Amino acid sequence: MLAARLSRTLLQLPGKTLSISNGENATKRTLLFCSTSFTSIKHRTYTSEVDPVGSKAVLVTGCDSGFGFSLAKHLHSKGFLVFAGCLLKDKGDAGVKELDSLNSDRLRTIQLNVCNNEEVERAVEMVHSSLKDPEKGMWGLVNNAGISTFGEVEFTSMETYKEVAEVNLWGTVRTTKSFLPLLRRAKGRVVNISSMLGRMANPARSPYCITKFGVEAFSDCLRYEMYPLGVKVSVVEPGNFIAATSLYSPERIQAIAKKMWDELPEVVRKDYGRKYFDEKIAKMETYCNSGSTDTSSVIDAVTHALTATSPYTRYHPMDYYWWLRMQIMTHLPGAVSDMIYIH
Ligand SMILES: NC(=O)c1ccc[n+]([C@@H]2O[C@H](COP(=O)([O-])OP(=O)(O)OC[C@H]3O[C@@H](n4cnc5c(N)ncnc54)[C@H](OP(=O)(O)O)[C@@H]3O)[C@@H](O)[C@H]2O)c1
Repeated sequence: MLAARLSRTLLQLPGKTLSISNGENATKRTLLFCSTSFTSIKHRTYTSEVDPVGSKAVLVTGCDSGFGFSLAKHLHSKGFLVFAGCLLKDKGDAGVKELDSLNSDRLRTIQLNVCNNEEVERAVEMVHSSLKDPEKGMWGLVNNAGISTFGEVEFTSMETYKEVAEVNLWGTVRTTKSFLPLLRRAKGRVVNISSMLGRMANPARSPYCITKFGVEAFSDCLRYEMYPLGVKVSVVEPGNFIAATSLYSPERIQAIAKKMWDELPEVVRKDYGRKYFDEKIAKMETYCNSGSTDTSSVIDAVTHALTATSPYTRYHPMDYYWWLRMQIMTHLPGAVSDMIYIH
């Protein structure tokens, strides 16, 4: 089994272009060129036995847009009873309206800010009261809600570090803790959307990386604790899908940049200079259009984690470049990966 898994991942490598980065944000140089060009990972087909869905209840956070929005629709199409947590339901967000327009008993949007205790508790009550037999619990929780930002450590305010952690990390912990009694009753599933940046750090992404590393640690601890209780915990670590979701937009980058520059300590502003700062922002704007526009590998990974009899601990929907970089950064000595990717 182990040998088969190892050979499967290694077999994915021949015939691809392996590249190294010249530093920030995915600018690549070719390291090794083989016959096929560097492409996005194709749909990985998962083959393990699948539990029957049969209207099992699942809650997904952050369904206003991006992965969460697509997941809510996909899980509904698979037959799940879907509770789609939306940050802006009360404000009539377009994503919420589209989900509501499906007019299905099995897809219910709910107002859910994962940073707000009351809203999370209200969501638990709503799910509880909607279940046919609450004693049998609720099958799945997908912690998907997230935000991102950018900027070197010296450019990032403490307020920003806390703001990102409040959603990505503490939001995940809060929501999970609140739903665990229902999930334990069903011997169900927790699926946490982390990121490849939860496994390997990147310059200018520290506020995001530390939250996703935290999500990984939380998920591992929870997986160990829940194993004897029958709840299975998986982590999905998407690569770069920036072009496909609303995590970044040029407007958002400009707004972050303006606030960042205005709030920079004078010494940092003077030492780095406006030119350096503007170049970094321009790079970030280019990044907005990067990555895969096809999110189905992420959707398939979450679906497998929710439905397979033996879900994986970690899923890696990402292209070969990032997959290889992650293996090198997580398995080789830091000096080697620093030399290849960072310096
Ligand atoms: N896109 C990528 O390349 C990528 C890669 C790796 C991991 N991820 C992760 O994937 C997850 C989904 O992101 P995405 O790429 O699909 O971006 P997205 O389109 O921006 O989706 C994130 C969703 O979370 C919602 N949200 C933000 N703050 C919230 C809060 N306090 N409570 C509840 N919901 C909140 C957002 O609502 P609004 O739209 O109303 O703000 C949005 O609907 C995130 O955890 C992200 O870190 C994304």
